[in-house]
Amino acid sequence: MREPRFTVREAKAEDVHAMLGLWAATPGIGLGVGDDEEDLKRFIARNPRTCLVAWKGGILAGAVVGGFDGRRGYLYHLAVRKDYQSQGIGKALVAEVLDRFREIGARRVHLLVFTTNQQAVAFYTRLGWRLRQDVLVASWDCEPGKDCGC
Ligand SMILES: CC(C)(COP(=O)(O)OP(=O)(O)OC[C@H]1O[C@@H](n2cnc3c(N)ncnc32)[C@H](O)[C@@H]1OP(=O)(O)O)[C@@H](O)C(=O)NCCC(=O)NCCS
Repeated sequence: MREPRFTVREAKAEDVHAMLGLWAATPGIGLGVGDDEEDLKRFIARNPRTCLVAWKGGILAGAVVGGFDGRRGYLYHLAVRKDYQSQGIGKALVAEVLDRFREIGARRVHLLVFTTNQQAVAFYTRLGWRLRQDVLVASWDCEPGKDCGC
């Protein structure tokens, strides 16, 4: 019998170590605040339907995490292991997570891509995502005691 190409399923707490390892090894993924085991487990617990992993023969081939805030969905850290790229795994993860966002009521999904990440820009453009030229991203670090200046 032929081995299945790959299996996509919801991420579980026991996957987080492998997920962080995959992201750390994948150029184009910017790890930052919240990318540790404890915070990732918490994120998965809050968003169990939209955090997905793709396994192939006992190896974590890909992962993506999505969060829904009640209005928009946000997609983070889509990555496919280098030696498993161009096999449709990234597309399958995005298709599955978008179906799930739709089911839970998200009408639009956003993601952030480094402007230098031409591979990801080409991938998402190929899949039909609309690149926005009309928005800037602004960020605030919620450090304890930090003056908000207001
Ligand atoms: C971007 C990434 C997730 C794509 O995953 P993948 O499994 O290799 O992509 P797929 O095999 O599913 O490709 C899906 C489609 O996109 C196209 N595509 C994939 N990479 C592409 C590229 N670099 N340029 C142009 N098209 C590309 C494929 O040709 C395919 O088109 P098709 O459906 O017409 O055949 C993967 O390359 C990756 O992990 N990159 C590093 C991490 C990263 O940058 N993530 C994005 C962070 S925002």
